[in-house]
Amino acid sequence: MKLIFQGAEAKIYLEGDKIVKERVSKNYREKELDNFLRKLRTRKEAKLLSDVKRVGLKVPILFETEQFRLEMEFIDGVKLRKSLDKTNYEKFCKKIGEDVSKMHLADIIHGDLTTSNIIVKNNEIYFIDFGLGVETKNLEQKAADLLNLYQNFKSVHYEFDCWKYFLEGYEREETAKILDVFGKMLKRRRYI
Ligand SMILES: Nc1ncnc2c1ncn2[C@@H]1O[C@H](COP(=O)(O)OP(=O)(O)O)[C@@H](O)[C@H]1O
Ligand SMILES: [Mg+2]
Repeated sequence: MKLIFQGAEAKIYLEGDKIVKERVSKNYREKELDNFLRKLRTRKEAKLLSDVKRVGLKVPILFETEQFRLEMEFIDGVKLRKSLDKTNYEKFCKKIGEDVSKMHLADIIHGDLTTSNIIVKNNEIYFIDFGLGVETKNLEQKAADLLNLYQNFKSVHYEFDCWKYFLEGYEREETAKILDVFGKMLKRRRYI
């Protein structure tokens, strides 16, 4: 097993064509609470992965769930953060818009939507990292998911008008209310 990534919450190992995501214990948290949170987040991420797959999006196949670790398909591609360029951003951003609208209309919030949590493989986009996800109908939380991605586009991919193409995929009758709340959030943020 090879450690390929060490984040604040998890260690990621590559084992053949499998990824093992193990939630590490945090010494600053009381032991029981720590175990509880790690279990909860592991279970939640597993549930969201299968729910998102059911909605029709591409996510890693989940092979196994244990208390603190998930085993899933290794998506052998390149992070969108690295692969977004002037030849593909229109197509990818529109596709992300379509996919995120499906997620939100199914009441699933990703929780950390950025181009670092999207992998491109064979010209297709895969969403990963649902550890901060939630299932809710709450419009503010859906709008906050959008704001996260909007800020990521504006700061990392500022040379392209990603948002315009994202909206082409995201905008429809059923998402109008979410976009309305998002618009207000954005305005509030600008005046702060
Ligand atoms: N299924 C996967 N396929 C390929 N790479 C993955 C997969 N899961 C995680 N990774 C890699 O590990 C990194 C961290 O995993 P992630 O689930 O995003 O954890 P964190 O919550 O620490 O950000 C990702 O940015 C990606 O590079
Ligand atoms: Mg991540």
